[in-house]
Amino acid sequence: MNEPLPEQPLLRVRGLAKRFGALEVLRGIDLDVQPGDRIAILGASGSGKSTLLRCLNFMERPSAGTVALAGRVVGRAGGGTGTGGEGAPRVYDEAELTGVRQRVGMVFQQFNLFPHMTAEANVMEALRTVRGIPASAAGERARTELARVGLLDKAAEYPARLSGGQKQRVAIARALAMDPELLLFDEPTSALDPELVGEVLRVIRQLAQEGRTMLLVTHELGFAYHVANRVVFLADGLVHEEGPPEQLLKQPRQPKTQAFLARHREFDF
Ligand SMILES: Nc1ncnc2c1ncn2[C@@H]1O[C@H](COP(=O)(O)OP(=O)(O)OP(=O)(O)O)[C@@H](O)[C@H]1O
Ligand SMILES: [Mg+2]
Repeated sequence: MNEPLPEQPLLRVRGLAKRFGALEVLRGIDLDVQPGDRIAILGASGSGKSTLLRCLNFMERPSAGTVALAGRVVGRAGGGTGTGGEGAPRVYDEAELTGVRQRVGMVFQQFNLFPHMTAEANVMEALRTVRGIPASAAGERARTELARVGLLDKAAEYPARLSGGQKQRVAIARALAMDPELLLFDEPTSALDPELVGEVLRVIRQLAQEGRTMLLVTHELGFAYHVANRVVFLADGLVHEEGPPEQLLKQPRQPKTQAFLARHREFDF
């Protein structure tokens, strides 16, 4: 009688499409993210991986489809235009999107730190301006997050005096300070010198071990193999193939996935 409710996905993406003019980048992405999922997203350059992440925290507005966070679809249905209605993009309210962006944190390839602010001020910024938290409490929280990524001693440094790996760890601390329910990483190590990749991957691995939910676009296939619980391969604007790392990375079923992986064979498990 008391049937357990199926676990509600933290994020449910249905039919997500994004076009830039005539270019259809995403053509109907379906994806469910359960709490605690660590999903690696793979795909050729230009396949729309960044666009997908940017649509999920609404830095880009989807052209069609829905994104639901913890059961609530973001935005409201767009007015029908007489062309069928169903294809009309949803209407998004900026205040609602600000709320979504706090729940869905993003870490960028190029860090995107404010150069004129110290590490601590970078981490505090959204706490102050978006959350309205007083400076002393925001500073304390910023230092907690900097300590988590091993950079408490760099709190007073400006980005120009930090290494790439340190800058990226500050960017991760900044995302964590907002208590996001979901973390999006867009190739967080691909702008780094090889010797700095490890320190950033270690932080991400630690976050994974803490049970945080994350989507990670990466070319570090060995890392995806060890940290992700699911791997999604994008091609032609769709989820072309998905599965557990063991299956998708070692025994891909689709020829396009096989060809992609064959081009990235310089990893070993
Ligand atoms: N703002 C934009 N305006 C026009 N075209 C865009 C825009 N953003 C992305 N595109 C195009 O959309 C396609 C997908 O880009 P996207 O950056 O999502 O790919 P990607 O999979 O992240 O590639 P990479 O692995 O090189 O980072 C590309 O053809 C790109 O040129
Ligand atoms: Mg990209």
